[in-house]
Amino acid sequence: MTVPAILHPFAAPAREATGYLEIVRGEGCVLEDAAGRRYLDGTAALWFCAAGHGRREIAEAVSSQMRELDAFHTFGSFTNAPQQRLAALLAELAPIPDARVLFTNSGSEAIDSALKLARAGHRANGEAGRTVFLSRVGGYHGVMLGGTSISGLPANRAQFGPLLAECVQVERSSLDAMREAVAYHGGDRIAAIVTEPVQGAGGVFPPPDGYLQGLRDLCDECGALLVFDEVITGFGRLGSWFASHHYGVTPDLLTFAKAVTSGYLPLGGVVVGPRVRGWLESEEGYLLAHGGTYAGHPACCAAAIANLGILSAERLPERAATAGARLRAGLDPLLGSRGVADVRGEGLMQAIGLEPEVPAGSVVAALLARGVIGRLIPSVNAVAFSPPLVISEAEIVEILEALDGALTEVAATAPGGSGRIG
Ligand SMILES: Cc1ncc(COP(=O)(O)O)c(C=O)c1O
Repeated sequence: MTVPAILHPFAAPAREATGYLEIVRGEGCVLEDAAGRRYLDGTAALWFCAAGHGRREIAEAVSSQMRELDAFHTFGSFTNAPQQRLAALLAELAPIPDARVLFTNSGSEAIDSALKLARAGHRANGEAGRTVFLSRVGGYHGVMLGGTSISGLPANRAQFGPLLAECVQVERSSLDAMREAVAYHGGDRIAAIVTEPVQGAGGVFPPPDGYLQGLRDLCDECGALLVFDEVITGFGRLGSWFASHHYGVTPDLLTFAKAVTSGYLPLGGVVVGPRVRGWLESEEGYLLAHGGTYAGHPACCAAAIANLGILSAERLPERAATAGARLRAGLDPLLGSRGVADVRGEGLMQAIGLEPEVPAGSVVAALLARGVIGRLIPSVNAVAFSPPLVISEAEIVEILEALDGALTEVAATAPGGSGRIG
């Protein structure tokens, strides 16, 4: 048996080199594989391709930047125009007033950076004892050691222990449980509460009504920081630029990545609000000992600036609200039929939860056979859809028709047949 030279992420290392789907090009929401087959990208790759595939404007902005300045770092006293421009743009767009931006290469680095900034901030503020991180069951916060330690997905933690101490996962939907966790660990020991506003990889779970504001209040009461991981929800997916706008709750730190460049080049970062930046800026000689060589690479910043220009000019956050409502209107009637036990989501981030008799993996495979890429979430037997924000009405209908066919096919072969599961 031969395995591929690539050690694929989130895949079985023992899997043979055959049967991988080689994507060769894309345009809008449409992808093509090496055999010339067409697929509708129902997931914006891994939630990131907001502006759609094949945007020449972004490619040209990157190419032009690379011809001007390939790269130079911004450690210490070095700076460059693309990074300055993007930081100013993000500070303006971001839901936190008077913020600065720390750049990273990915969402995972953004989360680990936010954790470090939270601890460093408290320490600079004379509260070095604030070291505990509270997060939620079902939360996905990337793959670095910090993000894995606060992860609420057991499968993503199991292989890598011992993880960081003082990282506690709290029941997903209960504000009381979070309040109890704060009391148990001591309000003056909590560095931050970290949450995705809408849990994505954990199964597409919007927050209960008032939950995020409740976290904000709890943090204000005990002096902890509120960190929103907006790696998926940032840049329009819920129908507003950020989930913080959508829910009207302002965090102290906000992590972003993915749709900031629509994935054309890797870039992430942390929007650092006035509390933390104030602590870090308060002593003139203080040196922040953190940052990545390529973080905020000029070519990535050029991609982000061009991408944000597209999102803004084409009003894609607004479009996501309309397209999301259309997609949801097509999903809702499936509830109770062919194993669909739940329909949930917000904006252009929607999912169906399935009865155990109807394996979500089979539905995703049946969708793929019909030319539609859906996202399998095995931990909660769900299928998620999060297409590029440019998706058209006809393409939404294509997803819904493929899903209808896929559910009928899988339900018919499920134990007990389609009769048993409606
Ligand atoms: C909410 C959230 N945070 C962090 C990450 C990690 O981002 P990356 O894969 O860019 O490291 C992801 C990735 O899907 C995510 O969904």
